Amino acid sequence: MTINRKGIILAGGNGTRLSPLTKAVSKQLLPIYDKPMIFYPLCTLMQGDIREILIICKPEDKSSFKKILGDGSNFGLNIKYALQKYPGGLAEAFLIGEKFISDQPVTLILGDNLFHGSSLSKQMKIITKQKTGGTIFAYQVKDPERYGVVEFDNNENALEIIEKPSNPKSNYAITGLYFYDGSVVKKAKSLKPSKRGELEITDLNMLYLKEKSLKVEIFDKGVAWLDTGKYDSLYEASGYIYALQERQGLKISCPEEIAWNKGWISGEKFYEIAKNYGDNEYGEYLMDLYRKI
Ligand code: G1P
Repeated sequence: MTINRKGIILAGGNGTRLSPLTKAVSKQLLPIYDKPMIFYPLCTLMQGDIREILIICKPEDKSSFKKILGDGSNFGLNIKYALQKYPGGLAEAFLIGEKFISDQPVTLILGDNLFHGSSLSKQMKIITKQKTGGTIFAYQVKDPERYGVVEFDNNENALEIIEKPSNPKSNYAITGLYFYDGSVVKKAKSLKPSKRGELEITDLNMLYLKEKSLKVEIFDKGVAWLDTGKYDSLYEASGYIYALQERQGLKISCPEEIAWNKGWISGEKFYEIAKNYGDNEYGEYLMDLYRKI
């Protein structure tokens, strides 16, 4: 049987920590320098050659996401939408997406998580092909208590993951990028809501860990995992993208560029898209790429 790994971008939540920015606009549509935030996780999935993608968002935001991403054809993707009416936890994504997943392996990425680094694409492609078990990533941070935190033994084997511990046993936070096999839906169904009333991704990861089928890989220092949860981190993420793009003259996480490079859209289509962006820097960037070949 050929495996067809699916991708889910979870873009729900109330974004209350960013209010008033998020009063009228979904957090995952806020700008990170020159692109809507969701472009970044979308491109991370694309780098892993994941082309069937489900966006889970709040009912009132669906039309905005659709305006920006459509059915995915401009990016050589097949994009579907599903709704999360109330923030019921990250693991709820697998219940909402049950039909879409249809027993295939699936990668979940949080719509507000930004990853960047040259080794990422290679790592993504390898894990995308995995058929069994789960793989998640740990990243060293100075404020682990804000995240799911993993404790390792001396050989970097994961022993336990605890959600937002007050006394973290390590500085390794679990990032918002999760790879699971087809058993994830069944596992998610067996979870009970936590004290905060949510189906916790950490509890799901613990089920895989207890089964000895969870790999916790540590991202190397060359990978950047950026936070967008507070005003300052949102501002810093924009600064990071601006600085790199300015220096190199290349855009980070431009889905049309990735789709064209991968041969998922034709040159003609790419030209049409560039033209439709009209007279702005993003459109000019695409047009320049087109003229270069
Ligand atoms: C969630 C997860 C947490 C993970 C984090 C990554 O936290 O519960 O385990 O480390 O995403 O961004 P939340 O966004 O609910 O604070």
